[in-house]
Amino acid sequence: MLALGIETSCDETCASVVSDAKKVLSNVISSSLSLHARYGGIIPEIASRAHLEAICSVVDTALKEAAITPKKLDLIAVTKGPGLIGSLLVGISFARSVALSWDLPLVGINHVRSHLYAAFIENEISFPFLGLVVSGGHTSLYKVKSLDREELIGSTRDDAAGEAFDKVAKILGLGYPGGPIIEKLAKRGNPGAYAFRCDCGRGLDFSFSGIKTAVLYKAGELKKIYGRLTDEMIADICASFQETVVKDLVVKSIRAALKSKAKTLVMGGGVAFNCYLRQRLELAAKDNNIRLFIAPKEYCLDNAAMVASLGTRVFKYKGSRRHLKLDPLAG
Ligand code: KG4
Ligand code: ZN
Repeated sequence: MLALGIETSCDETCASVVSDAKKVLSNVISSSLSLHARYGGIIPEIASRAHLEAICSVVDTALKEAAITPKKLDLIAVTKGPGLIGSLLVGISFARSVALSWDLPLVGINHVRSHLYAAFIENEISFPFLGLVVSGGHTSLYKVKSLDREELIGSTRDDAAGEAFDKVAKILGLGYPGGPIIEKLAKRGNPGAYAFRCDCGRGLDFSFSGIKTAVLYKAGELKKIYGRLTDEMIADICASFQETVVKDLVVKSIRAALKSKAKTLVMGGGVAFNCYLRQRLELAAKDNNIRLFIAPKEYCLDNAAMVASLGTRVFKYKGSRRHLKLDPLAG
């Protein structure tokens, strides 16, 4: 089965052709990030305009790179939410139009679920499993029994982990998005330099807004004493911050897996791109005899391959043709 996936939930216009949910024939991403850089975050209106300009050529390129014509497609899958409403509307309207004109079934895919199942693209993973989605908008733990039975057992009470990376980078004047730059600078820093915390009890919920404030105070304190933040201080803050967040994500994921007696742990989302997190989770899973599947790096950040792949699975699982009934507000 050949599926065309479309993803426009934030600032990336993405299209991908995936065969039988597993084989990615093309994965095209056009980012409007550079247009937002000077604002220090994503501006929804700019993002939706950029999607409008890019969507036709991105989809066209995805079909060409996969060397197929629309006639060969069996399914269209599109992100239906959550995300920026104006951005989602561009992808959904486009998907509805082509599904109608090419006479194809259309499946709407929840964005968080597409991150949750991104590791399925290249791996044979069986149910049940414990899933961690860690992105710019979500930090959530799911007990997953089957394709339509996901139970949320832990989530952030305030900021998402990726959001904390972005805000800490902003405090340190490092630009947007914060994750990649903090990961890079952390390599040169001492993870034990500053004692940050992001604890919220012995449960499975997360909280990352306190650590962001702690970084703000620490940066202010250092500036007051030394007049400015040196490169070494910034690297130490990045390393200490990353160490604390990664430790919290790892401890709670393992705790959740042990608590729910899950033998398999699956991780996806933009923050899962972080090598330090990947390594630490691998070690912890090994120590606890848990099988770990992490989404391949090319499917961690927003992309349409994960949408086409999950769309195919959902379509086959539900066995129904859902034509053109998509509401981005429904998420
Ligand atoms: O999944 P994603 O592309 O979009 C959402 O659905 O939110 O995730 C984007 C988030 C941003 O907050 C970004 O800073 C973070 O993922 N991120 C990282 C890294 N690369 C991206 N966080 C930590 N380390 C990274 N290397
Ligand atoms: Zn995402």
